[in-house]
Amino acid sequence: MKYSGFAYINTIGCQMNVYDSEKLASILKSYGFEKTNDMDTADIVVCNTCSIRHKAEEKAFSFLGRFAKIKKKKPHLITVMAGCVAQQEGKKAFERIPHLDLVLGTQAFSRFGQHIDSIKSGQQRIVDTKDSQMIYETMPDTACFDENKVSRFVTIMQGCENFCTYCVVPYVRGQERSRLPQSIVEEITVLANSGVKEVTLLGQNVNSYGQKEGQISFPQLLTKINEINGIHRIRFATSHPKDLSSDLMYAIRDLDKVCNHLHLPVQSGSNHILKKMNRGYTRELYIKQILELKKQCPDIALSTDIIVGFPSETKEDFNDTVDLLQKIEFDSIFAFAYSDRSSAPAAKFPNQIDEKEKSDRLNKLLKQQEHYTEKKNKDQVGKILKVLVEGKSAKKRNGFDQYNKTIEQMVGRTESNKIVHFPIEHVNIGEIIKIQIESAYSHSLWGHPVGTGA
Ligand code: 5AD
Ligand code: SF4
Repeated sequence: MKYSGFAYINTIGCQMNVYDSEKLASILKSYGFEKTNDMDTADIVVCNTCSIRHKAEEKAFSFLGRFAKIKKKKPHLITVMAGCVAQQEGKKAFERIPHLDLVLGTQAFSRFGQHIDSIKSGQQRIVDTKDSQMIYETMPDTACFDENKVSRFVTIMQGCENFCTYCVVPYVRGQERSRLPQSIVEEITVLANSGVKEVTLLGQNVNSYGQKEGQISFPQLLTKINEINGIHRIRFATSHPKDLSSDLMYAIRDLDKVCNHLHLPVQSGSNHILKKMNRGYTRELYIKQILELKKQCPDIALSTDIIVGFPSETKEDFNDTVDLLQKIEFDSIFAFAYSDRSSAPAAKFPNQIDEKEKSDRLNKLLKQQEHYTEKKNKDQVGKILKVLVEGKSAKKRNGFDQYNKTIEQMVGRTESNKIVHFPIEHVNIGEIIKIQIESAYSHSLWGHPVGTGA
């Protein structure tokens, strides 16, 4: 059926959820709902949820909880909880949000439209967490994109079978399934034709892309994408250290569009904790891989994910993580305090760490990393870097010249994923330009354009 109305979609969580929300928006569009950024005018409100940490889950419940009152005044409003929390909670979600119309799990997105029809014909409180075909093989509807960005995410595989003991993903996103290579290439070609210059390929463990299905490998997929006209940069996340192959290192080294950056989550620097996490590698193997990677790609930028305060993490274990950060000097890190997820085994592990201690360890780690990030940024001063122009920056630069003028600035990113600001110039969004870096800050660089650089 075709309806008319407006849809407001709130995305919580990871890049994969951003991609999924676009898919949900395009399903809604085919049912007659136009996307809106104004919650008050919406006829359908979707919260695409994340359950990776407790905080994200609470955010989802609190957002949807607000609609109890609004629904009283606006009874036709449809409220939907989609994604990982929906998959995890199922009908239990109604205990906290009685006014919900639909609980749509990650595995059930392809039946979204069908459920809208049922709600429209009077059915109440629908729950669907059953498995279904992948929805990703449908081509993107570029009209549903949030903004006309030059950089977009493309999910290449779903699910995960690594079962790290702290992680909820295998339970809420199901088994690992890789998309067909031709469908991925077709999607990126559509994006390139609509003006996209950079794609980030997404999967929980892109290194194992295609292995189960006996398809081409991830480095081979990168080779195919590298040939797509109009795409200038290829990024990917996330790689699992236990599956990092030499072929992937060669692909980063040899394929001109693949960015010189690797996000390789280490999670902990302690072998005792890595074992308890079921990560499948040791600290020594991780360091060995980084050394090999640096040999193949000397200027590679590195980032990682770290969890502090995992059950039974001693001060010595934590110090091993601190020491690893010192040895590797990542360009940036994403660090989290361990958060119990009831479906993940670690929730039942003994020796849980006190919240205050977790937060102290997290702050210590972040503070230490600030030093390395700043150092890596300072290393860029004086260099001429290729920057993909993303647009006008929301922030202005104060006291820019001898007249103490405030000027508007533009923003872009280097291949190594560093943010660069520069004065507004006659450059096009989506263009790659050369920028001479003049100063470095904790989270960004500043410089002046000195030429084109594609
Ligand atoms: N607690 C804290 N952090 C977690 N992550 C995953 N599960 C948890 C958890 N239970 C982090 C990991 C992962 C990132 C996406 O989120 O570092 O790489
Ligand atoms: Fe979670 Fe581990 Fe899978 Fe990453 S690899 S999604 S941390 S289970």
